[in-house]
Amino acid sequence: PQGLFSLPCAVMIWAVWGSGFIKSPLSQRRLTQDSVELHCEAVGNPIPEIQWWFEGNEPNETSAQLWDGAWQDRVKINATYNLHSTSTIYIANLTNDDSGTYECRASNDPDRNHLSKSPKVKWIRSQANVLVIERPVITGQYTSSAGKVILSCNMSAPHVAIKGHKWMLGDKTLKAEEGNSDSFITYTIEGKVEEHSGVYECIYETNPVAKGNVLIEVKPQVVAYKKSEHGNEGDTGVLTCKSLSYPPVQSWDWYRSDQTVSAVNGDNKTELRILKLSIEQDTGDYYCNASNAEGPGSATVNLRVRSRLAALWPFLGIVAEVLVLVTIIFIYEKRRKPDEVLDGPVQSEL
Ligand SMILES: *[C@@H]1O[C@H](CO)[C@@H](O)[C@H](O)[C@H]1NC(C)=O
Ligand SMILES: *[C@@H]1O[C@H](CO)[C@@H](O)[C@H](O)[C@H]1NC(C)=O
Ligand SMILES: *[C@@H]1O[C@H](CO)[C@@H](O)[C@H](O)[C@H]1NC(C)=O
Ligand SMILES: *[C@@H]1O[C@H](CO)[C@@H](O)[C@H](O)[C@H]1NC(C)=O
Ligand SMILES: *[C@@H]1O[C@H](CO)[C@@H](O)[C@H](O)[C@H]1NC(C)=O
Ligand SMILES: *[C@@H]1O[C@H](CO)[C@@H](O)[C@H](O)[C@H]1NC(C)=O
Repeated sequence: PQGLFSLPCAVMIWAVWGSGFIKSPLSQRRLTQDSVELHCEAVGNPIPEIQWWFEGNEPNETSAQLWDGAWQDRVKINATYNLHSTSTIYIANLTNDDSGTYECRASNDPDRNHLSKSPKVKWIRSQANVLVIERPVITGQYTSSAGKVILSCNMSAPHVAIKGHKWMLGDKTLKAEEGNSDSFITYTIEGKVEEHSGVYECIYETNPVAKGNVLIEVKPQVVAYKKSEHGNEGDTGVLTCKSLSYPPVQSWDWYRSDQTVSAVNGDNKTELRILKLSIEQDTGDYYCNASNAEGPGSATVNLRVRSRLAALWPFLGIVAEVLVLVTIIFIYEKRRKPDEVLDGPVQSEL
C-alpha cells in the first residue's frame, strides 16, 4: 500500500515543486582575451532559481559558485524571473584558467539554500565546456613599390590547424582561399598606397577564427567636389571638400589668402557656406586643409561670382535678336513697296 501511495505523491511533488530546463548552455571554444556568453532557461512552479557554478580543468579544482562581479568583475550575470527563469552569464577577457565546466543549476525547492536541511528536491544541472586557447600572435604589415601594395600577415607558432584564410576591408571580402594552410599570407593591390588606405583584416580559418590587421595610414587625400564653383551675386555659395582616406580627418580648416574662414565640418567632408555672395569680396581661391595623425592635405576651390544681370543676358540677347530681325523685315518691306509702285508705270511705258 505504501508503494501505491508514494508514486502519486512523487508526481504531485514534481507538479508542485519540480522544475526543468528548456534551454541548456552550449559548449564553446574561445581565444584568450575574447569573451564568452552562456545561456540557460528553466520552467517550474514556483519559478526556479538559476545559479552558475564553475569547475576548472586542474585535477585539484573544486566546484565554485559564480556571481555577478566575480573574477575581478569579469563575470556578469543577467537573470530574469518572469513566467519562467532565464539567466545569461558573460565572461570577459578570458584567460587559459577559465577553461573548464560551467554548470547551470536550477531549483524551486523552498529549502534549496538551507545550510543544514537537505532539500526535498535536488538542484537540476546542465553543463557546458568552455575551452580557452592561447591567442595566436599575428603580425601584419605592408610594402609598396612600382605601383603595387603588398599586404602580409604572419601567424607565429600556430598551435591550431588552419583550414584557409581570407582578406577583408570593412565588410567586403577581397580574397578568400579555402584549404590553404599557410601561416604567412599575402594580398596584392594594384595602385598607389595613397589610394588604398584603410584597416585591412586577415582572417585565418582556425577553430576559433583568428584575425590580424594591416593598417595602411596616409595623409588626408583631399578632393574638392568641384574645382571651380559658380554662384550668383546675393545667393549663398557652397564649397565642399572631402577625404575618404584612413585615418579619418581630425580637423578641417578653410583659408582664403591668409584669412581663416569657418565652415561646417563632418567626419570625411567639409562644407563652406558663404552668404550673400559679392563679386568684389568673394571671388577667388579657397583652400580646404585637412589634417590627421599622418599629416596635412589640401585642395583648392576657385569661386566665381556672376552679376545678377548675367542670368538675364541670354534673355536680353534673344530680345535684341528679335528686335533686329523685326527692324530688318520692317525696313525691307518699307523699301519694297515704293519700288513696286515705281515699277508699274515703267513697265507700261515699255
Ligand atoms: C591546483 O594545483 C596547481 C598546481 O598544479 C596550483 O597552482 C593551484 O593553486 C592549485 N589550486 C587549488 C585550488 O588548490
Ligand atoms: C539583460 O537581459 C534582458 C532580457 O534578455 C535584456 O533586455 C538586457 O539588455 C540585458 N542586460 C544586459 C546588461 O545585457
Ligand atoms: C585582460 O586581462 C589581462 C591580464 O589577464 C590584462 O592585462 C588586460 O588589461 C585585460 N584587458 C581588459 C580589456 O580588461
Ligand atoms: C613568420 O614568423 C615566424 C615566427 O615569428 C618567423 O620565423 C618567420 O620568418 C616569419 N615568416 C616570414 C615570411 O616573415
Ligand atoms: C562619410 O561619412 C558619412 C557620415 O559620417 C558616412 O555616411 C559615409 O559612409 C562616409 N563615407 C565613407 C566612404 O566613409
Ligand atoms: C593649406 O594648404 C595650402 C595648399 O597646400 C598651403 O599652401 C597652405 O600653407 C595650407 N595652410 C595651412 C595653414 O596649413
